Amino acid sequence: MIDIHCHLLPGIDDGAQDMDEALTLLQMAVDDGITHVVLTPHLHFGRFENFKSVIEREFAIFEAAVIERGIKVKLSFAAEVRLDALILQLVDNHSLPLYIGQAQICRKNYMLLEFPHSHIPPGSDMLIKYLISQNIIPIIAHPERNRDLLKSPNKIKPFVRLGCMLQLTAGSITGKFGEQCQVLALDYLAQGIIDVVATDAHNIKRRPPVLSEARAKVTELHGEATAQSLFHTNPLLIIGQA
Ligand SMILES: [Fe+2]
Repeated sequence: MIDIHCHLLPGIDDGAQDMDEALTLLQMAVDDGITHVVLTPHLHFGRFENFKSVIEREFAIFEAAVIERGIKVKLSFAAEVRLDALILQLVDNHSLPLYIGQAQICRKNYMLLEFPHSHIPPGSDMLIKYLISQNIIPIIAHPERNRDLLKSPNKIKPFVRLGCMLQLTAGSITGKFGEQCQVLALDYLAQGIIDVVATDAHNIKRRPPVLSEARAKVTELHGEATAQSLFHTNPLLIIGQA
């Protein structure tokens, strides 16, 4: 399994707070059967200003510690980018932390995009259209936890039609975020509009890096082929290794 969304890079957002916690979380991910972890710290203007240069620097430190600890796992990084008009500047100066390097000719780049939890801001579609015109495909993080979408699930449809991908959080599928989120997660899954499942891991107790339980549930409900797509094949495409 490949985890394309987690907050294991220590000390730069509300995820792992120090190197010890980060390495413990990474070992938990490996023990769960995760073979590739993409570290996606929050890039939230005014709150967590983790621009590409910051993440690159912290990633190098973390990678060295992982090698020293002897944890066998593939690592890469991107960011969970909070929706903001300032994203446009980062596109222009090629400093948006995408899943693979800078824009490559004839190749799509993927970006993890987070709406505010409370709502979908007006104008989101315009920003998304612009990103897609620049060959950047937004992957909308955990739509099943957005309060607007919990009230009106169909509000996600225009974004799917525009070409966005959708990422569910594993814990939503297994009920760890409550019944409402689980119902919406399972509804979106049944509609076949979900592209990828990720842990969005932040810490050991409440939000651990575990995918296996959600994978088992998806297999039970929709079969092995769907589980393979959501936990392996589509993540590989996103990280440019398909
Ligand atoms: Fe996240």
